[in-house]
Amino acid sequence: MTHQHQGIFYGVGIGPGDPELLTLKAVRVLQQCHAIYVPTSRVSRQTYVADVVDSYAGADCEIVPVTFSLADSGTRRQQHWHATAREIATRLHAGQDVAFVTLGDALLYSTYVYLLRALHEVFAQARVETVPGISAVSATAALCHCPLGEGEQPLTILPAAHDMEKLRALILGGSGVAIMKIGHRLTQVLELLAQCHVLERSVFVARVGLPEQRIETDLNRLRGAPADTGNLAVILVPPRCDEGDQVVTTAKKQL
Ligand SMILES: C[S@@+](CC[C@H](N)C(=O)[O-])C[C@H]1O[C@@H](n2cnc3c(N)ncnc32)[C@H](O)[C@@H]1O
Repeated sequence: MTHQHQGIFYGVGIGPGDPELLTLKAVRVLQQCHAIYVPTSRVSRQTYVADVVDSYAGADCEIVPVTFSLADSGTRRQQHWHATAREIATRLHAGQDVAFVTLGDALLYSTYVYLLRALHEVFAQARVETVPGISAVSATAALCHCPLGEGEQPLTILPAAHDMEKLRALILGGSGVAIMKIGHRLTQVLELLAQCHVLERSVFVARVGLPEQRIETDLNRLRGAPADTGNLAVILVPPRCDEGDQVVTTAKKQL
């Protein structure tokens, strides 16, 4: 196969799950690809990504589920991504355009990053295009009319999976913080926000843009919530700023 017949590999961010929150480019790519790889976690039954893909994929497009488990060892996961990358490389050599879709933005805490790395290792000359998507952070901010940053205010996006003390230092330092990957650490995160006296200024949104969307402007109401409440959720702690606080307070009253 000559180089000009090589297919293109697209990493496509499809937004937070609302079928209207895709870019025009994402829709065009999904419509024209010969195959679309759809990540499906073995620990979750969420089908948002698959549903969005079904809405836009072309009639002859092959949908390929990629099942992965966060519980697997690092080596097993790497083997898995390499096997998927080899399969995709074979398709690209055959002239097929292939997409791998992710929730939100393609390059923000996404499995696409692992696959892209593996593809570069197995097929260094692969033609790749990344299509950015609307992150859950942007969708959450939009829903709550909550400014992510103004002027020179810093904003940090932080997975709760990591160091809680880092989160404390950021909040006390006045940075706006978007907390992702909260999961079963919700209780710990709420406790920390209470200790930092920002519980009242923060907003919690789970499954933004999806039918089961939940907005909580009084985070005290989340205390004692079921263990899975923090799944697919974002907490925004707006940066410290009198004007910003006013905007957030007004927005919270309207929600
Ligand atoms: C693996 S990361 C993927 C982030 C994604 N690439 C993005 O740009 O939003 C998963 C985390 O994204 C957030 N997330 C993704 N979709 C979401 C949604 N519809 N509602 C709320 N949070 C969401 C949650 O914090 C979740 O734990």
